[in-house]
Amino acid sequence: VEVGAVADVHQPQIGAATTKVDDPLDDDPRVAAYFGDAWPVVGAFAGLLREHGVVRGLVGPNELGRLWERHLLNSAAAAALLPSEGTLVDLGSGAGLPGVVLAALRPGVHVVLLEPMERRTDWLRFVVDELGLANAEVVRGRAEEVAGTLLADAVTARAVSSVENLYRWSAPLVRAGGGLFALKGAKAAEEVVAARRVAVRTGWSEVRVVEASSLPDVGVTRVVCAVRAGGARRVR
Ligand SMILES: C[S@@+](CC[C@H](N)C(=O)[O-])C[C@H]1O[C@@H](n2cnc3c(N)ncnc32)[C@H](O)[C@@H]1O
Repeated sequence: VEVGAVADVHQPQIGAATTKVDDPLDDDPRVAAYFGDAWPVVGAFAGLLREHGVVRGLVGPNELGRLWERHLLNSAAAAALLPSEGTLVDLGSGAGLPGVVLAALRPGVHVVLLEPMERRTDWLRFVVDELGLANAEVVRGRAEEVAGTLLADAVTARAVSSVENLYRWSAPLVRAGGGLFALKGAKAAEEVVAARRVAVRTGWSEVRVVEASSLPDVGVTRVVCAVRAGGARRVR
């Protein structure tokens, strides 16, 4: 066996736009059925992530084989917890998760994809344009910088910082009675306990961890939900 030849087979194609990695849910008809009217947009978003995600450094190569379960369905599961109208800020949207998926599932909600990194806001603008997502807007900035300019009914954040920081950063962005929905990993409940003093200090109440489902055999999404008690205000 020629070592060089073997190495060539496994070398990534530098500059190649498409990385073909099979995802067991790719051709599963339950996925399209689950998304219903949102399927054309979400299916096209999956295609864009597959075509450009790895090359643009938005998605790790190993993630392509689990794009539906770990990312798109994981994001979609939070939709059932959200209001069906008003404004939603997706804090730290990155590749567009969960914001793009939620915009597709909640066409009556104006979704602000908030992201500080220019490379990612370029990507998000491209996605919004390609998908014709009329209810989504891209804003470049850190949450701390847009306080006072954005006021939402809800904030989502997935894989962005600690619950403590999300309480602090979201408080100025959410109206009284609005909600925070932080998509978290297995340690969500522990984070909530550790952050309970900050929750009180920053005006969040009714904090709970909800296990939201999508397809029956897909892992649940843990969402830290909190209600804004005091209305938008700057907090330490
Ligand atoms: C690990 S990525 C997660 C991206 C996406 N939410 C996802 O689930 O794939 C965290 C994102 O949060 C953004 N971010 C970090 N600090 C932020 C802040 N203070 N305000 C807004 N976004 C922030 C980063 O630029 C990055 O895109």
